[in-house]
Amino acid sequence: MTDLTKLEADLSAAVAGAADLTALEAVRVAALGKSGSISELLKSLGGMSPDERREQGPRINGLRDRLQGAIAARKADLETAELDARLAAERVDLTLPAAPRRKGGVHPTMQVMDEMIAVFAEMGFSVAEGPDIETDFNNFTALNFPPKHPAREMHDTFFLPADESGERKVLRTHTSPVQVRVMHKTNEKLPSWIAAGQEPPIRVIVPGRTFRKDSDQTHTPMFHQIEGLVIDKNIHMGHLKWTLETFIARFFETDAVETRFRPHHFPFTEPSAEMDVKCDRSGGEVKIGQGEDWLEILGCGMVHPNVLRNCGLDPDVWQGFAFGCGVDRLGVLKYGMPDLRDMFASDVRWLDHYGFSAFQAPNQASGLS
Ligand code: PHE
Repeated sequence: MTDLTKLEADLSAAVAGAADLTALEAVRVAALGKSGSISELLKSLGGMSPDERREQGPRINGLRDRLQGAIAARKADLETAELDARLAAERVDLTLPAAPRRKGGVHPTMQVMDEMIAVFAEMGFSVAEGPDIETDFNNFTALNFPPKHPAREMHDTFFLPADESGERKVLRTHTSPVQVRVMHKTNEKLPSWIAAGQEPPIRVIVPGRTFRKDSDQTHTPMFHQIEGLVIDKNIHMGHLKWTLETFIARFFETDAVETRFRPHHFPFTEPSAEMDVKCDRSGGEVKIGQGEDWLEILGCGMVHPNVLRNCGLDPDVWQGFAFGCGVDRLGVLKYGMPDLRDMFASDVRWLDHYGFSAFQAPNQASGLS
């Protein structure tokens, strides 16, 4: 008859002494495997007399249970130790500079955005933000688009399915709804990054994503705009023109860039204009400071009195100007990219070529680009 006490002591010692998971598995197989020592004992129960079996059964089964428990506990310990060892061995020192061959880069859109913000920040503008999904009221109604007016379609809007109240939200077609958010007093509980209800005087820019059903060499269904809004007393077109011309000269870091204002129509500004930049498109890519072509880069105008009223401001006291500028387009112009759609094609070769270092944030002191 096997000495169960001795067997248990031997097996316990073997479990405790197993140095790694492979050794532990060997102990398990030797005891509990198909022809392991405990399995053999369990098999021998069949050949015992009923009295013997009544006595030995619980002892052998108890031994098996205790051994299984001991193996599981040892396994957990070994796994923890193995993980700790791996964590220690694979430790990454985040304070080391990034290896140059694996560097990430700043996308041209974000670079241009930062450059624009740097220029406007120096002129005293602060940054406001709003959400990509907008109410019809903020995107259209408050901006003086009449209900059912075709101008709503003019923007090739992406409408979302109606919610329980029947309201159809939109992917904002421009950053202008943030004008409304900045001026309008709201009772809505909004996340802290969303602009809401400032008292004039107001001087903000609004960088953000915008969406329209449009795709060709100079349009992508998702693109970026920076909105500008200035509200104060005695503001006129001269302020608007100076601000935008100064911005363009500083952004392109040259006075050689020619611009022109063309009369235009927007429901939310009166008078309204578009600004074009002179460029050359003959060689397949857009070059600035030469050529005879014009590329439209922004819409602007004096804030319509109805918009001020819709936001609770008295147009006899407050006036202002606003503009909305295509960010990606300015990148195409400044950095000479052939096609706007490449911006969002996620081609790593393109990103390597046109991307920027993350370690050189643009600012007016050290230069923008
Ligand atoms: N929101 C207009 C557009 O996207 C641009 C604009 C902004 C025009 C502000 C005037 C004033 O086309």
